[in-house]
Amino acid sequence: MNVVDARLSSTAGEGLVSPLLSIIVPTFNERLNVSELVTRLDAVLQGIPWEVVFVDDDSPDGTADFVRSLSQRDGRVRCIQRVGRRGLSSACIEGILATSAPYVAVMDGDLQHDERILPEMLDHLRDENLDIVVGSRYVQGGGVGDWQTDRATMSRVATRLSRLVFRADLKDPMSGFFMMRRDMFMATVRRVSSLGFKILLDIFASAPTALKFREVPFEFRSRFSGESKLDSVAMWDYGVLLLDKLIGHIVPVRFVMFAMVGGLGLGIHLVVLATMLNVAHSTFDVSQTIATLVAMTGNFLLNNYLTYRDKRLQGMHLIVGLLSFYAVCSVGAIANIGLASYIFEHDYSWWLSGIAGVAISVVWNYAVTSNFTWRSRG
Ligand code: GDD
Ligand code: MN
Repeated sequence: MNVVDARLSSTAGEGLVSPLLSIIVPTFNERLNVSELVTRLDAVLQGIPWEVVFVDDDSPDGTADFVRSLSQRDGRVRCIQRVGRRGLSSACIEGILATSAPYVAVMDGDLQHDERILPEMLDHLRDENLDIVVGSRYVQGGGVGDWQTDRATMSRVATRLSRLVFRADLKDPMSGFFMMRRDMFMATVRRVSSLGFKILLDIFASAPTALKFREVPFEFRSRFSGESKLDSVAMWDYGVLLLDKLIGHIVPVRFVMFAMVGGLGLGIHLVVLATMLNVAHSTFDVSQTIATLVAMTGNFLLNNYLTYRDKRLQGMHLIVGLLSFYAVCSVGAIANIGLASYIFEHDYSWWLSGIAGVAISVVWNYAVTSNFTWRSRG
């Protein structure tokens, strides 16, 4: 028997049955958790043809390589590795789109979600003609385990805010654990924002018709290994998602963010300009030039951290990005200084001159850097 034949016979049967249930697991630095998760899935999903797809954003700890080594032994385990990208929601969406099973679940890779309720979720979905079943911490029988009170409070506030973008009486719209019908997802996928990490909320807020759902309680467990990836900017991400759902159909939310960062930059710009003029007694041209440089650098760093969080440049890419940002924006800066000086020379106030200069550069900067500085790498 040659190698290929040996492999085919060893995976024949289960490996060749197409899955009824695809489980999508976004991962970032979860190498020490994935094997345990697969073992547990295997234990609870007896009799159900399933597969698990890990969508890894090029974790430094080598999660993707490890998952691939698992899939060499078990064809039900698959890996999608994304390079130069970050984002929980977008990872889930790409994972779902890479599968074909009629039922799709999303769960975390750190074992905080109780895999034992998966069969029950599938039963509800199939027997009750539902669109989606949510693993819920906030219905009778569920819980948040050993959470600190401030995290619990934040979660409740975020849940309240979600009422801004959809109406369903879902107790746990922040859950990252759910199962749905593929056809419902396919009818929704072109409308989802895929920003940040609230994929469930995104789906509920984007679905073309009200979703038929049910919540199944589970107790949110402690992490098996490693630490949470949701940092202090998670609240910002959440705000961006809500904003996109509220006004995204009118104006791209990235431009809104860029303009908001620009607004902050304008503040910085005016402070520097005023200091240069009034404290250092520099000429207007020199003051405006220095204020522009300071604001430009600040804006680059803030946009890299917030607006382009999912494509964040790091290390050498950060330096190259900054240089390209300068290069692209120097045209904007020339227009800025030219226009501001022109207005100032015609006896308008220093602040009106400064604002007009900045405004023209913001539009230019956004249009060009979105295609140049933060274009997708690869
Ligand atoms: N591919 C990818 N890319 N995966 C990611 C990323 C990313 O940028 N960030 C996080 N993940 C993965 C983690 O590796 C983990 O498997 C899962 O997404 C959840 O991330 P955690 O870092 O464990 O988040 P958490 O436990 O703080 O938050 C969970 O609970 C929240 C409810 O309070 C998540 O399920 C959230 O979605 C959920 O809202
Ligand atoms: Mn977690």
